[in-house]
Amino acid sequence: MTTQDITFRTRKWVKPEDLNANGTLFGGSLLRWIDEEAAIYAIVQLGNQRAVTKYMSEINFVSSAEQGDIIEMGLTATAFGRTSLTMRAQVRNMITRDLILSIDEIVFVNLDREGRPTPHGYTEITYDRDRIPATALPAVHEKGR
Ligand SMILES: CC(C)(COP(=O)(O)OP(=O)(O)OC[C@H]1O[C@@H](n2cnc3c(N)ncnc32)[C@H](O)[C@@H]1OP(=O)(O)O)[C@@H](O)C(=O)NCCC(=O)NCCS
Repeated sequence: MTTQDITFRTRKWVKPEDLNANGTLFGGSLLRWIDEEAAIYAIVQLGNQRAVTKYMSEINFVSSAEQGDIIEMGLTATAFGRTSLTMRAQVRNMITRDLILSIDEIVFVNLDREGRPTPHGYTEITYDRDRIPATALPAVHEKGR
């Protein structure tokens, strides 16, 4: 996999609370960050805050990061399905550009207000913020209030 077409947006500074017993970046922290990054990317692309993680392909922790390292996360859409969006992700060291993690497929599904998959109607990446809904929908737990 190349870094071609991937836009690295969010940067994180590796802190003591992000480390494993080996003293390097804990994989669970990294996965939480990349899942959040993918969720935000999906919301922007699909124009819907109700987009959820459906599937992740093999997660390859290529190299580690240490306390004090600055890492950056990148995503790009690779396929627009009927209700789904597939992305690939990379995380790298911001300074050295060494690859830390790669995931070839992260699939998010576009949901309606009842939590059912619903067509999103998009086929191409937007590089703008033109799909963000003008008003946020109420969350499922607020239904009926
Ligand atoms: C998301 C969810 C509503 C989808 O339900 P579902 O019954 O699989 O829905 P569908 O079969 O209609 O599939 C929806 C889309 O996901 C895709 N999909 C389903 N299973 C998939 C898989 N294993 N891998 C890749 N894509 C998959 C389908 O191809 C379809 O995409 P398309 O419409 O673009 O063709 C349901 O699985 C769910 O609620 N999962 C939990 C989501 C969640 O809470 N995630 C947070 C982490 S716990």
